[in-house]
Amino acid sequence: MFTSNHCCYLLPLLWREKGTYYALHLGGTYFRILRVLLGDQRSYLDVQDVERHPIPSHLMNSTSEVLFNFLAFSLERFIEKEENGSDSQGVRRELAFTFSFPVKHTSISSGVLIKWTKGFEISEMVGQDIAECLQGALNRRGLDMHVAALVNDTVGALSLGYYHDPDTVVAVVFGTGSNACYLERTDAIIKCQGLLTTSGSMVVNMEWGNFWSSHLPRTSYDIDLDAESSNANDMGFEKMISGMYLGDIVRRVILRMSEDSDIFGPISPVLSEPYVLRTNSVSAIHEDDTPELQEVARILKDIGVSDVPLKVRKLVVKICDVVTRRAGRLAAAGIAGILKKIGRDGSGGITSGRSRSEIQMQKRTVVAVEGGLYMNYTMFREYMEEALVEILGEEVSQYVVVKAMEDGSSIGSALLVASLQS
Ligand code: BGC
Repeated sequence: MFTSNHCCYLLPLLWREKGTYYALHLGGTYFRILRVLLGDQRSYLDVQDVERHPIPSHLMNSTSEVLFNFLAFSLERFIEKEENGSDSQGVRRELAFTFSFPVKHTSISSGVLIKWTKGFEISEMVGQDIAECLQGALNRRGLDMHVAALVNDTVGALSLGYYHDPDTVVAVVFGTGSNACYLERTDAIIKCQGLLTTSGSMVVNMEWGNFWSSHLPRTSYDIDLDAESSNANDMGFEKMISGMYLGDIVRRVILRMSEDSDIFGPISPVLSEPYVLRTNSVSAIHEDDTPELQEVARILKDIGVSDVPLKVRKLVVKICDVVTRRAGRLAAAGIAGILKKIGRDGSGGITSGRSRSEIQMQKRTVVAVEGGLYMNYTMFREYMEEALVEILGEEVSQYVVVKAMEDGSSIGSALLVASLQS
């Protein structure tokens, strides 16, 4: 169903070297910094400090220098606070840079930005080595920190999932954007023919947000949203299933209805503003359990739609339900597609060359999932999980475990850095 559109990771997935490791995660809406302590025992993993901040919106279309100076400054502040004046002279800190955008890797610690997604628009950075940009900014601040790995968020989540449970072979992010990666046999990756890895496997970052097929049920709302976005004709799947866009699809439906009828009263000018309705409001509308739907009324008022009767508020809840249900079901189809590809859907898999026993025996399979949409929007999560069971069937589903992985991408990236030290 999906193909890896640009890169394969070659990761040892072997732990570990005890010590302290840092991770900086540049996602879509937030950036996170954390420090992880690994002890002697395999099970000793202590996430000591986590900072999570919204990415200031002006940075998303600033310059490379402004963005990386800001990240380096934030790291410096984090370290100062956390080391609290203790003598750290001569201590070189190892950093994982979790970068949630499409990258062409040139090594585990370097790679060039292919394109921006999720509303970022710093065109001068496309084609630049992202790790080098961060390292340069750290050096300019005189911070003794080494960018030891450049990691996609899905790969970080897979690493943490694998650390806790070696049956984890797929990781998916449903956040501002969406993407998946999975563990593939090296000989099944056409790009990597002849390449040997000790485990015989590799992590494939699919960048599935860019998946496209004429079979995707695309509506006029999707087409308009795409055409008016900063990355038109790109990331079609992401625009149907991820947190950045669900709110705007709902907004477009309400706007069209209010243009075509008078059920919402006079047309609200606020409703014409792209992205004015956020997905967390869609979730709040959807999950409003007050008898008079007061939360729905409050959110509608914020977007200039006041005093609508209960029956219209119920209609708005229905719109949120339809948009989210479609997203959840498409997301499940994506996961089922991966399981089919690797022979974990009970069918034996698309890739030839699997042994008979591999085909016949359904193995326990863990899918690590991370991202605000999945974590915070219960109805999305329920629709996704329900559809996955529907597609795989009750029997196979018993072997497929979907596991939430909070901060998995950042913690897992730090673990990868630890694995590189050994
Ligand atoms: C990016 C991916 C990322 C995903 C989830 C997408 O927009 O292209 O690299 O993994 O968002 O954060």
